[in-house]
Amino acid sequence: MINANNLLHMKTKSIELLNKAVADELAAVHQYMYFHFHCDDQGYDLLANLFRRTAIEEMMHIEKLSERILFLKGEVEMKASVEVKKTHSVKEMLEFAAEMETSSANDYNEWANVCSANADSVSKKLFELLVEDEERHFNQYDDEMENMKKFGDNYLALQSIERSKNIASGRPAAE
Ligand SMILES: [Fe+2]
Ligand SMILES: [Fe+2]
Repeated sequence: MINANNLLHMKTKSIELLNKAVADELAAVHQYMYFHFHCDDQGYDLLANLFRRTAIEEMMHIEKLSERILFLKGEVEMKASVEVKKTHSVKEMLEFAAEMETSSANDYNEWANVCSANADSVSKKLFELLVEDEERHFNQYDDEMENMKKFGDNYLALQSIERSKNIASGRPAAE
C-alpha cells in the first residue's frame, strides 16, 4: 500500500536516477559535439552529421528527463557526469560512442526496474523509451564501424571526396 513515506522515497529515488541520466546525457551531448567538430574539420560530412544529429537527440532526452524531475518537484542538476574524451581518430570516436550507448542502455534498463519496484511507472516508461533510442544510436555507430572495417581508409577518403564534389558543384553538404 502507498503511504506518504513510500511516496517520498519513490520521488527521492526517481529524482536521483533521473538526474544521473541527465548527467550522462549532458556528457553525451558534449562528447558528440566534440566528435562532430573534429569530423567536420577533417571533411567527413557523413559522420559529422551523424554525431550532430545524435547530440541533438540526446539533448531532447535531457528535456524529457528534466520535465519528469520538475513534475516530481525536484531540481535539475545540469552537470555532465564525465569530461570530454579527446581524440581525433574516427575509429576511436566510433568505438567510444558505441561504448557510451551500451552503458546508457544498460543503466536505463536497470533504472526502469528500480522505478517499477518503487511504483513510479511513468519514470519507468521514460527510461524504457530512452533505451530504445540508445539501442538505435548504438546500431548506427556499429554500422559505421562495420563500414570502416569493410572499406578501410577508402571509407573516409570517399566522404572527403563527396564534400569536395559538393563544394565544386555548389551543392550544400548533406544534412
Ligand atoms: Fe540519450
Ligand atoms: Fe544515445
